[in-house]
Amino acid sequence: MAENISAAALLAWRRRLLLDYPDRGPALDWLLELEGGLGWPQLQACRLYPERPLLLERPLGQLEALWWRHCHGDEPLQYLVGRCPWRDLELQVAPAVLIPRQETELLVELALGLGLEQGSAPPRWADLGTGSGCLALALALAWPESCGWAVDCSGAALALAAANGGRLGLDGRIQWRQGAWWQPLEDQWGRLPLVLSNPPYIPSALLAGLDPVVRDHEPWLALDGGGDGLDCLREIVAGARRALAPGGWLLLEHHHDQSLAVAQLLAAAGLEELRVARDLEGKARFALARAPGGA
Ligand SMILES: C[S@@+](CC[C@H](N)C(=O)[O-])C[C@H]1O[C@@H](n2cnc3c(N)ncnc32)[C@H](O)[C@@H]1O
Repeated sequence: MAENISAAALLAWRRRLLLDYPDRGPALDWLLELEGGLGWPQLQACRLYPERPLLLERPLGQLEALWWRHCHGDEPLQYLVGRCPWRDLELQVAPAVLIPRQETELLVELALGLGLEQGSAPPRWADLGTGSGCLALALALAWPESCGWAVDCSGAALALAAANGGRLGLDGRIQWRQGAWWQPLEDQWGRLPLVLSNPPYIPSALLAGLDPVVRDHEPWLALDGGGDGLDCLREIVAGARRALAPGGWLLLEHHHDQSLAVAQLLAAAGLEELRVARDLEGKARFALARAPGGA
């Protein structure tokens, strides 16, 4: 149900909601855009033309109720509205899946930058720990001829990822498989030229100190990397030689202080051509390495 309101009334409402939360302007504007249908240019225009009427896609009272749930209960806005923009996609999200992060968008760029689509066969790839399906969906869209597998041990996450795939018209393009890391892909072992993963990598002792928006609402299954944060990365790297095709690439996201440790794991597992990639803040957050035997 839409609602008419003057620009001046909207600005007054916005000021009131931010009184006790002055740092949360970007979050409130995000909510106004996603649920109210009011983008940044229109919000700017409110300041220039306060008497102009506006049409909000949802009544202000409903937006305000979501806002207070976010402020008082630390519920992530993405869960409250049930969706999250990521790259050029809008993904459905729920507390069963990690809210896809901006830095993870770079993992897709790194995969696309390998030039695998230039070979004679369509790219084959797998995404381990798919969560909302963000990485798998981005690859399937970027490489329409590719064959992809997406794994998660959480049935609820896989169901949501598959639903995201259906909404994007990708039914049948990705095989969604439930289980632990490489295990559900046993029939593909030795045949995968590209595997990427953003596994849980936060050291267990740090979980209690996370921002409550994350700590109290996002699934610990998606965050908890064990004592040193490397448990899942260790398992994934350990299975890589067996599962990757000769010369196949493994692309990993990791915590900002794990670059050296992950490089050592990759080297010890016999992977080659190690590369490190940085996030937008310049932190080493990604590792790339290949199985031996590439052309
Ligand atoms: C950090 S989240 C990443 C989700 C998504 N790929 C993204 O980048 O937003 C890690 C995912 O790994 C899954 N996971 C945790 N342990 C797993 C395991 N042993 N085997 C398979 N998936 C696992 C979690 O359920 C979660 O969806």
